[in-house]
Amino acid sequence: MRLSCQMSKRETIVCGGIEGLAGWVAAEFVRLAQQSAREKGRFAVALSGGSTPRSLYALLATPAFKQQVPWSEVHLFWGDERCVPPDHAESNYRMVREALLSKIEIPPGNVHRMAGEKEPRIAAAEYEAELKSFFHIAPGVFPGFDLVLLGLGEDGHTASLFPGSDALAETERLVAATYVARLNAYRLTLTLPVLNHGAVVLFLVAGASKAAVVSEILRDDDPARFPAARVDPLNGRLVWLMTADAVSQ
Ligand code: 6PG
Repeated sequence: MRLSCQMSKRETIVCGGIEGLAGWVAAEFVRLAQQSAREKGRFAVALSGGSTPRSLYALLATPAFKQQVPWSEVHLFWGDERCVPPDHAESNYRMVREALLSKIEIPPGNVHRMAGEKEPRIAAAEYEAELKSFFHIAPGVFPGFDLVLLGLGEDGHTASLFPGSDALAETERLVAATYVARLNAYRLTLTLPVLNHGAVVLFLVAGASKAAVVSEILRDDDPARFPAARVDPLNGRLVWLMTADAVSQ
């Protein structure tokens, strides 16, 4: 079911359950990867953390999908990372390594991990330098990911851009180190300008626990209060993929 939504160009697609959502995104990932590799010789993706995308990554790792992806041209980045070592249970890198990386043949140099184990500001600066180098961008220019995958927190956060975070006001830096008081933890995150320069931005939202915040965001009455609602790609395609229970309100 596709609902056209009033805000900007946001498309919303309701999939039955997480399997349907993962299947839709996996097929789109393959299509975009093949097209981008053919046209540009590369496919740069910013991966989402959290638990929702694990099903997608696991599906991409199955023979039916992984054999269709030109992994040598695919470059995997992270949209955000917890400030923990890469083998920590909370690590977004570890989640992707277990679900996907350990099951595919991708050149190690194509996997661009955020260094969660380092001092946050140093890790953010290093990742920013890596983005500038990979995308060959000058100061004031933002990297254009071919695909950005995002999740949605119950408070309306996305990546590690939480309500009230100073990082939301960032208009120049590409990567921010941010302290999240509610979690008593530091996070690394791509900033809004980077997310909004994505060519295709997909939100993956599953579960009844997200229904309330989804309802408020789609109602659009005061979207700016939710970081996720401030993701509105300048020239890109924005699709909110949601399971039926996530749109139950
Ligand atoms: C993270 C994510 C975060 C996540 C949401 C939803 O590092 O946790 O980047 O933005 O997408 O919190 O998380 P779930 O998918 O676990 O509900």
